Amino acid sequence: TYEEMSKKNKEYLWHPFTQMKEYMEDNPLIIERGEGRKLYDIQGNAYWDGVSSIWLNVHGHQVKELDNAITDQLEKIAHSTLLGMANIPSILLAEKVIEIMPKGLKKVFYSDAGATAVEIAIKMAVQYWQHKGKKGKHKFITMKEAYHGDTIGAVSVGAIDLYHETFHALLFPSIKLPYPYTYRSLHKQEEIVKKNLKEMEQLLREQSHEIAAVIVEPIVQGASGIIVMPEGYLKGLRELCTQYNVLLIADEVATGFGRTGKMFACEHEGVTPDLLTAGKGLTGGYLPVAITVATDEIYNAFLGDYEEQKTFFHGHSYTGNPLGCAVALANLELFETTNLVQEVADKSVYIANRLQDFYRLKHVGDIRQKGFMVGIELVKDRETEEPYSWTERIGGLTCRRARELGMLLRPLGNVIVFMPPLASTIEELNEMINVLYEAIADTTEREG
Ligand code: LLP
Repeated sequence: TYEEMSKKNKEYLWHPFTQMKEYMEDNPLIIERGEGRKLYDIQGNAYWDGVSSIWLNVHGHQVKELDNAITDQLEKIAHSTLLGMANIPSILLAEKVIEIMPKGLKKVFYSDAGATAVEIAIKMAVQYWQHKGKKGKHKFITMKEAYHGDTIGAVSVGAIDLYHETFHALLFPSIKLPYPYTYRSLHKQEEIVKKNLKEMEQLLREQSHEIAAVIVEPIVQGASGIIVMPEGYLKGLRELCTQYNVLLIADEVATGFGRTGKMFACEHEGVTPDLLTAGKGLTGGYLPVAITVATDEIYNAFLGDYEEQKTFFHGHSYTGNPLGCAVALANLELFETTNLVQEVADKSVYIANRLQDFYRLKHVGDIRQKGFMVGIELVKDRETEEPYSWTERIGGLTCRRARELGMLLRPLGNVIVFMPPLASTIEELNEMINVLYEAIADTTEREG
């Protein structure tokens, strides 16, 4: 029963990104099953999965093809290691991944979370320069408000004070430049691109001899509040990295696998990074598999005789897990048979049109969207762009109201995030957007 489960939940579990004191006093949601784009709690209530279970669900829940891929693989083996040996699903998936990657990315290194994929990219970048005889190149440039995961290396290239400041003493320093940000700016988009690239160039001109890589969330900076890059920045950044001999790491953990209306966000600007990290949607939102994908230039630098010790000494127990790789492969096949990326691009026009209505609500300050990645920033005053104070918890209250209305959302501060599963139909999107509108209207007009 709900009471039993709720009691055990509170007794034994510590939830991520959750203030447990508050959680203990609340009636926590306990999910029992999912079907299509909906989740069902153990009391039988249905909810739209409005943020794709933290940005990862693709085709929905209990998708036959994906379920079968796991049960079929289960009849062979659940797990065997990738350390010094291989398994079939990990090989086939790597082939498929390379087929769909931006041109020039050639080798897949597996892990099991977005954060570990980032750790791996960081270590590969540093070791790459050592093999190239440039030991001094070990620093990283990152963007202000960046988020790359919660492990210490990923936090070191992160820049959200609330999550990261506590661990300051443990972090390696990274150099932080502003992400091109257009809201609350008096400048035109092209000017922002120019100004930001100029700043980047100046830094690279002075310090590229000690910089290993620039790491960026391409096209959309996610956890900082769904910030969409103006056109031209990513391409310009790629050119600068090439010019100054610094690697470009594109963290596509949030944007990868169709989320922005392209298979990878880098494709919006025809960019190939030197290292690309992805996870989340790779398995359709089923199992934890992540990848760090490298160019041959990087991979080849690690080749050498045993005695040279050029091996990449990194690997996790569950790296290349066959169940995860099998479901990822089925997921990518389903992308093709349903023409999903094009569908996302097409349906995102419908979303964009619907979202225009939201400006009727006077506390909607800015609506940012790329594909199925939407952030609606609520403000105290649209004219002055004055934010709500964080103590007003406007984001949390809005999502609470959405839950009452039948959709699960999770805010980023005052930004309401809407990231429906990629296979959502127009009818489903319509219903979800209705709830979204009502939740914002009810909350902001009530709270004033
Ligand atoms: N890189 C990017 C660009 C990401 O957006 C994420 C997770 C990661 C890396 C880490 O991947 P993971 O280790 O989780 O598989 N903390 C926020 C939501 C973060 C969004 C998830 N992104 C919240 O409290 O809602």
